[in-house]
Amino acid sequence: MQRPVSVSDYRTLAQQRLPKVLFDYVDGGSYAERTLAANVADFGQYHFRQRVMRDVSSIDVKSTMLGHPVAMPVALAPVGFTGMMARRGERQAARAAEKAKVPFTLSTFGICPIAEVREATDAPFWFQLYMVRDRKFVRTLIEEAHAKGCGALLFTVDLAVLGARYRDIRNGMGMTLSLPGRLAQAADYARHWRWAYDVGINGRPHVFGNLASRVPGATNFGQLLGWLASNVDPSVTWADIAWIRKIWPGKLAIKGILDPGDAQEALKIGADAIVVSNHGGRQLDSAPSSISALPAIVDTVGDKIELLMDGGVRSGHDVVKALALGARGVLIGRPYAYALAARGEAGVSALLATMKAEMLNTIALLGKTSVHDLGRDDLVWG
Ligand SMILES: Cc1cc2nc3c(=O)[nH]c(=O)nc-3n(C[C@H](O)[C@H](O)[C@H](O)COP(=O)(O)O)c2cc1C
Repeated sequence: MQRPVSVSDYRTLAQQRLPKVLFDYVDGGSYAERTLAANVADFGQYHFRQRVMRDVSSIDVKSTMLGHPVAMPVALAPVGFTGMMARRGERQAARAAEKAKVPFTLSTFGICPIAEVREATDAPFWFQLYMVRDRKFVRTLIEEAHAKGCGALLFTVDLAVLGARYRDIRNGMGMTLSLPGRLAQAADYARHWRWAYDVGINGRPHVFGNLASRVPGATNFGQLLGWLASNVDPSVTWADIAWIRKIWPGKLAIKGILDPGDAQEALKIGADAIVVSNHGGRQLDSAPSSISALPAIVDTVGDKIELLMDGGVRSGHDVVKALALGARGVLIGRPYAYALAARGEAGVSALLATMKAEMLNTIALLGKTSVHDLGRDDLVWG
């Protein structure tokens, strides 16, 4: 491909570039992947109301997200293992985000630790956290995120138990492989020699940077995954989030809400924002798509708390639809992971530029001039 433009172009290139186990890890969802498919497909049920003959010579997509000025209301979502897509991938993605003036979110399960991303960017990137059994661990990560100037904490609440991703199981991801399995993996890496050189050799260490120094005895990825599996805490309730609220002094977003009742709980514990999300279709399969869940949440708490959404956003058109339905901004996961795998930092920069151009074009053809003027009357559906 001479010049990738759309998310699906970057997806095609990522598939060529990455070993199968990694492409499937990013591309896949849980179980039958129904929610994953619905996240993308359901944007199609909304159509734009085209309006003409209005002065659209100047369009403004600047906004704020979680109190931060942004050049457009699009943030990079937390994606675990980003550093396996490209060499020290979190650094590259954070730099692209800084240049585009949009937020980057570092996952708890990033390859690069907080300190390394801090060195790569002057922007106040966001940090994503899970609740694990080891509350001391949670507290030290929160303290570090604060000390390193992270601009917001995204607390993910939709992982009380881990949804099974069947592609990862089939590929033996994170498992001890038999000899034939190891040989097949080596052959896959050899076929993807560019990745093997860029990431396999030069992108080390391949550990979760935020966990490696804190998990006693874990020296490799398999051991860290084992720690994770036994530390996901299914007993977490809103009372635990209230504790987080007390110890994190900055902006707090609760990520992974699909139900208006849960949105009200997030409001009650004093969150600053909610991310309407189903974890990119990687947790409860047959949960509603994020875009279809958004309107009811907007109607319930939209005037009291900042609402962000993610899941299935694949273009600037999708961003405009989410804003028209009442979101303040969106996050993108796979789109930037594909672009990073395909072309590194330059790929993420180009993708963000395309999304912005699509937004500008769409808003003009709606006869509007600002992201703040968008509303449900810009859409036709049903
Ligand atoms: C490969 C991958 C890893 C992810 N890792 C995390 C994570 O560590 N923490 C988290 O809160 N969400 C994680 N997510 C979910 C994303 O933050 C986001 O909700 C989702 O990707 C949005 O859907 P999209 O990929 O269709 O844009 C991950 C998603 C993907 C695809």
